[in-house]
Amino acid sequence: MNKPQDPNRVLIFDTTLRDGEQSPGISLNTHEKLEIAQQLARLGVDVIEAGFPITSPGDFEAVQEISRKVEGPVVAGLARTHVADIDAAWNAVKDGPRPRIHTFISTSDIHIRHQLQTTREDVIGQARAAVAHAKQYVEDVEFSPMDATRADVEFTAEVCQVAIEEGATTINIPDTVGYTMPQEFTAYLERLYELVPGLRDVVLSVHCHDDLGLAVANSFAGVLVGARQVECAINGIGERAGNASLEEIVMLLHTRQPDVGLHTGVATRELARASRLVSRLTGYPVQPNKAVVGRNAFAHESGIHQDGVLKERTTYEIMDATTVGLDANSIVLGKHSGRHALQQALSELGFELSGQNLNTAFKRFKEIADKKKQVTAMDLEALVTDELREEAAAYQLEWFDVEASSRRPPHATVGVRTPQGEEVVGSFTGDGPVDAIFRAINAATACEARLREFRVDAVTGGQDALGETSVVLEVDGVIGAGQGVSTDIIEAAGRAYVRALSNALRRRGIVAEAEAAAQAPADAVTAP
Ligand code: KIV
Ligand code: ZN
Repeated sequence: MNKPQDPNRVLIFDTTLRDGEQSPGISLNTHEKLEIAQQLARLGVDVIEAGFPITSPGDFEAVQEISRKVEGPVVAGLARTHVADIDAAWNAVKDGPRPRIHTFISTSDIHIRHQLQTTREDVIGQARAAVAHAKQYVEDVEFSPMDATRADVEFTAEVCQVAIEEGATTINIPDTVGYTMPQEFTAYLERLYELVPGLRDVVLSVHCHDDLGLAVANSFAGVLVGARQVECAINGIGERAGNASLEEIVMLLHTRQPDVGLHTGVATRELARASRLVSRLTGYPVQPNKAVVGRNAFAHESGIHQDGVLKERTTYEIMDATTVGLDANSIVLGKHSGRHALQQALSELGFELSGQNLNTAFKRFKEIADKKKQVTAMDLEALVTDELREEAAAYQLEWFDVEASSRRPPHATVGVRTPQGEEVVGSFTGDGPVDAIFRAINAATACEARLREFRVDAVTGGQDALGETSVVLEVDGVIGAGQGVSTDIIEAAGRAYVRALSNALRRRGIVAEAEAAAQAPADAVTAP
């Protein structure tokens, strides 16, 4: 991607599907990743980092699908400096109209000595060879000196200089472990500009982690010094404490634009929907007081504040809820609404459904509308997102019976369809009805899964609200997460549990493959 003509335009590089997906317990299937990528395109991000293609066939497939199907943003694939990584990244992105290869290697002595077990000279050689190799495939190449903020700035400058000589078009400076502070980061980047004059001819990018809660502040410091790409993730998800939150950095630049003079190309009204979609599909809840997209971000509790806002909104609000898309959507359907009305309502919400997908959504909509008088936009969003979670090659909850009473221990029997298509049945008497259904699923599938987390939320208010459940479980030390939606909490819990189980088993397979590959050190795959 060329440097934008407008010197005040900040590019938004979204890494929800790569760094974000590395958060513990998150495991998105290709469908889910595609849906998120489509929403990121609607949001108007400039770059989608769709994954790390060498790490698994699933990651490769998702990056390829996104490159082929998502229009608008540049689609990047991550690669270490190894030839095989770069080839995999290229093969995954090459079918799209705007491919990018993003390659990285650490420049801190801690990483060079202990993790890479090599020398500075070798790092320079690897960076040069990797960028040159990527450049044979594509014009748009990004290079990152990993752990740069804990590295010697002179050495990092030398490596960046080499990457620019070989044709890197973006140089990204990561605060990999979330260690730096705004004024320190400012000084670091200023020094880098002095040492590498060519940095002014490429896009300088920043990638900050939130271990000390400074990811957005550090990214902002970077932008003030001259960085024109910010790497961030929806809801701030990412490795450990996460990445800079996309919605926060975007709204910071938007709200303070008169003072700072910078802008992004993001359609801010899509932020709330992007946040809900990512939260639903990853099972990572958004804290109620989260800046910009939290449910309380625009709520006023104190009488004085309420009084002020009623008289004039700006007395206590620096942003308008409608600007981030948090205004209530007026769509309401009922049990007499037809297929066409549903299709239209879904289209207004950004879901284009037809054929079999529309039929399935319509069937579930009717089931819910029979139990609930009014089906709102939030219900529809939850329902369609739930359908996206269904995967052919996974366990599915076919039916269940649960007997619950205060006088007898609860008992559950379930029928589960296996990935091979056969129905297996299991029963269990548990401590409570949810415990009973979870253990009955274990019995049916002969899996010793252990529950780690269970959460129930209501999609909307009201007694007949849809329940949304989230399960995190563990199988042989491997974590899997799943979510489910239904008017019946037990059913939603059962759906979430079988999905979490399927995800854990899939991940267990990937871990086993990676362990086998690690026997040959040159091929070892470790996410950054
Ligand atoms: O945090 C990090 O250093 C990364 C790099 C791959 C950019 O995620
Ligand atoms: Zn990172």
